[in-house]
Amino acid sequence: MSPLYLALLLILLAASVASRENKSSSSSSSSSSSSSIRKDEQTKMNAYIETLMRQMTVQEKIGQLNLVTPGGGIPTGEVVSSNVHDSISSGRVGGVFGVSGADHTRRIQQVAVDETRLGIPLLVGADIIHGFQTIFPIPLGLSCSWDMDLIQKTAQAAAQEATAAGIFWNFSPMVDVSRDPRWGRCSEGAGEDPHLGSQIARAMVQGYQGGSLAAPNTMMATVKHFALYGAAEAGRDYNTVDMSQMRMFNEYMAPYKAAIDAGVGCVMSSFNDVQGVPASGNRELLTDLLRQKWGFDGFVVSDYTSVNEMISHGLGDLQTVSALAINAGLDMDMVGEGFLTTLEQSLQEGKVTQDTVDLACRRVLEAKYKLGLFENPYLYSNSSNPENDNHSHEHRKLAREAAAKSFVLLKNDQHVLPLKKVGTVALVGPLADSQENMLGTWAPTGDTKDAIPVLEGFQNVVGDQVKLLHAKGANICDDPEFAAKVNVFGPRILIDERTPEVMLNEAVAAAQHSDVIVAVVGEASEMSGESASRSDISVPESQKRLLRELAKTGKPLVLVTMSGRPLAMTEENDLADAILHVWHPGVEAGNAIADVIFGDCNPSGKLSITFPRNVGQVPIYYSIRNTGRPQAGDKFQKFRSNYLDVENSPLYAFGHGLSYTSFEYSMVSLSKINLTGDDETLTASVLVKNAGDRYAGEEVVQLYIQDVVASVTPPLKQLKGFQKINLAPGETLKVDFNIITEHLKFYNQHLVYDWEGGDFNIFIGTSSDKAKMGTVNWDKDALAESGRSEL
Ligand code: NOJ
Repeated sequence: MSPLYLALLLILLAASVASRENKSSSSSSSSSSSSSIRKDEQTKMNAYIETLMRQMTVQEKIGQLNLVTPGGGIPTGEVVSSNVHDSISSGRVGGVFGVSGADHTRRIQQVAVDETRLGIPLLVGADIIHGFQTIFPIPLGLSCSWDMDLIQKTAQAAAQEATAAGIFWNFSPMVDVSRDPRWGRCSEGAGEDPHLGSQIARAMVQGYQGGSLAAPNTMMATVKHFALYGAAEAGRDYNTVDMSQMRMFNEYMAPYKAAIDAGVGCVMSSFNDVQGVPASGNRELLTDLLRQKWGFDGFVVSDYTSVNEMISHGLGDLQTVSALAINAGLDMDMVGEGFLTTLEQSLQEGKVTQDTVDLACRRVLEAKYKLGLFENPYLYSNSSNPENDNHSHEHRKLAREAAAKSFVLLKNDQHVLPLKKVGTVALVGPLADSQENMLGTWAPTGDTKDAIPVLEGFQNVVGDQVKLLHAKGANICDDPEFAAKVNVFGPRILIDERTPEVMLNEAVAAAQHSDVIVAVVGEASEMSGESASRSDISVPESQKRLLRELAKTGKPLVLVTMSGRPLAMTEENDLADAILHVWHPGVEAGNAIADVIFGDCNPSGKLSITFPRNVGQVPIYYSIRNTGRPQAGDKFQKFRSNYLDVENSPLYAFGHGLSYTSFEYSMVSLSKINLTGDDETLTASVLVKNAGDRYAGEEVVQLYIQDVVASVTPPLKQLKGFQKINLAPGETLKVDFNIITEHLKFYNQHLVYDWEGGDFNIFIGTSSDKAKMGTVNWDKDALAESGRSEL
């Protein structure tokens, strides 16, 4: 035991009692996931950390700000840390990532605890983006479930599995709003909408962190990438971001804030610059906004070498950018070692103050304290943890359900789907029997061999009731150079030894001998994700060719499309009778797809991001603001805002998603149409009927509001609420939304957050482009207004 442990024993004992009390009181509240702690506990923590920090040298404090990786998982930069063992044992490391396994993490923790002077335990982190070993659908897919309970459960399952493997700090959720499908990392987020994104951010933080950070099966979450990473110019990863502050706050910031309000323990700064200052050195973001306005009290970690990268941004040498980062409010430096190697000199030269270093160090130590590490550094490195049975039946079941609920039925002419479990099905396409592309991007802790390919899922679900004729039909793409760029983490695009013609003919022959064709096409998993932007977001030409030939057979053509982003599928939409978009569904891919295709599950996913007709429409999103020359509808009008070569409307709108049944919406009924002041509540209601007679179905009832006239151009509609309901055939349900003035607020050009009186259109419907409308007048309270101005 290190000397410090003896010295701190008394404080620890007192703290441990309080911590246990805290654990039981907070775990009974399922909605709390706060990383903040009770006041008395806070006092004990402060005393503990004060005492500890008094023992620490400057070098040891700076060591706490250093995060290293030996290179496990996915190293997302050009450097990985060297001599990790030596760095830890000499007290120059505060945390590690890229290591996994209860025994492995215990050994690493032992180096910190037993070999360093003060025995301060390490943080052990990882990127657990959509499941640890049980891989769930990619986050963009999960977001299409619009099911917060489900999303929270997937995060909870990930935390159970990861903590059993010694990992208790997660670099998730990624909440970057993105309206640009060229950007490969839209796959990791919740799509284009700040309201939906905020609900999901909260659900994920709650799922990961549970009621207490110090419970052995919860982990600290990191909201990322702060800020605005999803708005990279031209959809090119890491690129510049520049936008009005009004847009920033109305359209991009809410999900980060929601994660903070949910008590997230850590924030990761982003790679991009924001109005000319890289986020990792941006004090306005990391201190003024995050801490002073939003009250965040955790610590900020950089992204992978993002401190050093400010050199390439053009802000100076390593010492300068490291000082810039810590002075901006960044506490921990991921991999780059700029803090480790330059902060001492900056202290001597007065470029950084001791208080600043102390503050960063304190924040890192506080996180360790809240995680229970000072009480038991091996809390999460317990190889006899029952959770080690990672692939529990429950988690696989959850993965199958989550996958099915993430699928979006984009089109279903003549009710081609669901297929009956009879006859012959041609199951074709390069993704029809692919195991390596089911997990999706950012799943390094999962094993592709655990995934169920579509062919196997079909066999599982239909047995020998249906004759399956399988043919690959095409390569994902025929270009070996492109394939090599995609195959960096293992083979994803396998170019067949046979010629494209031979494969195509085989698939067409299978189609001719079948009653219906199911073609599984789209993107390989690493065609999206980090550093995987595309300037052309269509289905690759090799597969388009296959689809054209299949369509010519005249057999009903069902597409199962996979991707990590919206695809431009105008031609495919014309060729196919039905399209089920399944993103990258995770370990239970094949089973879940078969469940939906053969009608054991009724699809209920709704797009959380717009599908354009072509890439030239990008950025495209539903909550647009009108120009002075708006065009009515999609018919071209000269001197109106439009294109010569494509309609304005998207191929599939935000919120769109069909079901095997149909839902009928009544008109919107409003509890009142004239309201005044902040104290009123408007109830807007619809009756939703499952108008089918065969299938029970889930429907996401969506509420949008439009401020008709405002002092700044108001969006045509904005999502303000949604409810997911389940209706039996023929059943009708009344759905109420309670609207208060908070729902009407926005940031104006002076960044004043308030609402303005006048008319508001209230839309309720099945998607952003299919909704019923009512109008209310909501005035400011004249008396209250004049009262306010007198003050
Ligand atoms: C870079 C990515 O941008 C970030 O999301 C990830 O958490 C880190 N690398 C660590 O792997």
